[in-house]
Amino acid sequence: MSTIINKRAGRGCFVTVEGTEGVGKSSNIAFIEQQLTEAGVDVVTTREPGGTPLGEEVRTLLLDHRHSGMSVDAELLLMFAARAQHIEQLIEPALARGQWVLCDRFTDATYAYQGGGRGISVERIAVLEQWVQGSLRPDVTVLLDLPVEIGLARAAERGTADRFEKEQQPFFEQVRNAYLAQAKSAPERYRIIDASRTLDEVQQQLQRVMKNLLSEAGV
Ligand code: TMP
Repeated sequence: MSTIINKRAGRGCFVTVEGTEGVGKSSNIAFIEQQLTEAGVDVVTTREPGGTPLGEEVRTLLLDHRHSGMSVDAELLLMFAARAQHIEQLIEPALARGQWVLCDRFTDATYAYQGGGRGISVERIAVLEQWVQGSLRPDVTVLLDLPVEIGLARAAERGTADRFEKEQQPFFEQVRNAYLAQAKSAPERYRIIDASRTLDEVQQQLQRVMKNLLSEAGV
């Protein structure tokens, strides 16, 4: 499979996918991956927290109910600890090789969940973002947006809830509002998808977004 040489000196594109619970992230990420692969893009699909052996162990700690008393700062720092490993071991090397990276959540999730949801200040998160990422930022962020009530009802059908999914509706309203505020402040990077539509309509929206992105990247 050919490696994409895009406009930024052979580096791959960094695409992230975000949203609150029950927005259909997994199936839509699989769809995006398929679109990119069919266009000849060499894509690495990964997730946060996680993506590396160390990161996946940190993820287990973060999602485990036994740690319901985890402090908000411990939660924030664990997210960035997993991210530091992910960037060094997987994301940066892949982008440098010219592969695209498709990541299920990234730092926008930290601003939304630890910022909007837990109330940690944007300034504090920004310090860690700069420290851990340097200049690395997603090129494009797909936000799957859905009213919280619908998302929670969909997520409830999936069965056992993790430590985050146990949170109540007001928490997720804050998370969603934080995502929408970020999207508003960075319209050039965000692509908002109305995830309340049927699967077919959501995929049509995603197809349009990917087609434009591929053409911008010169693929
Ligand atoms: P998932 O729902 O994508 O599997 O992610 C697991 C949980 O981790 C999800 O509830 C959101 C949460 N999360 C944060 O709170 N902050 C972050 O920075 C990331 C990446 C995820």
